[in-house]
Amino acid sequence: MKTAIVYYSLNGNTKLAAQKIAEILNADEIEIFPKKPYFDRGFKKYFLGGKSAVFGESPELMPYEFNADEYDTVIFGMPVWASCITPPLRTFIEENKASLGGKEIACVLCQSGSGAEKVANKLKALLGISSFKAELVLIDPKDKPNDENEIKIKDFCKELKV
Ligand SMILES: Cc1cc2nc3c(=O)[nH]c(=O)nc-3n(C[C@H](O)[C@H](O)[C@H](O)COP(=O)(O)O)c2cc1C
Repeated sequence: MKTAIVYYSLNGNTKLAAQKIAEILNADEIEIFPKKPYFDRGFKKYFLGGKSAVFGESPELMPYEFNADEYDTVIFGMPVWASCITPPLRTFIEENKASLGGKEIACVLCQSGSGAEKVANKLKALLGISSFKAELVLIDPKDKPNDENEIKIKDFCKELKV
């Protein structure tokens, strides 16, 4: 049985973390994309993305391949948006929740300041679980690389291997 890391990344920070984790755990990477991309810069990036997250939108996704039967562990990776779940991940979870029962679930949350704790709680509620097998919070790992992030990523992967 394998691990899948399912993630959405607007500016590459979550993507970088997901790639590192996938390499350490030999996990399958499933990057998801909304059919209508979010703005990746400027005022509209924050305003429209933040609004979409706060309103709990579930945008339609580009086709993806995910067969839950192949995995015993699923890691969800996303940026924190206005202390909320990023909408593409919400869509993915809504579409696949029924097939996730009994699996180990973990999360990777990237942020520039704060809000990850709130997102972790919202994510647990959406998934209908009480805890994650492991939880990783990183501050902009691509834009602000540092040794501490590398250590946190390794520790997170160790927790998942136990
Ligand atoms: C719409 C929007 C809302 C955001 N809201 C928050 C927030 O509430 N707290 C925070 O610390 N960072 C917030 N950020 C910053 C991102 O979470 C952070 O830069 C993250 O590392 C970006 O990941 P990505 O490059 O994978 O998209 C927000 C970014 C966007 C675009």
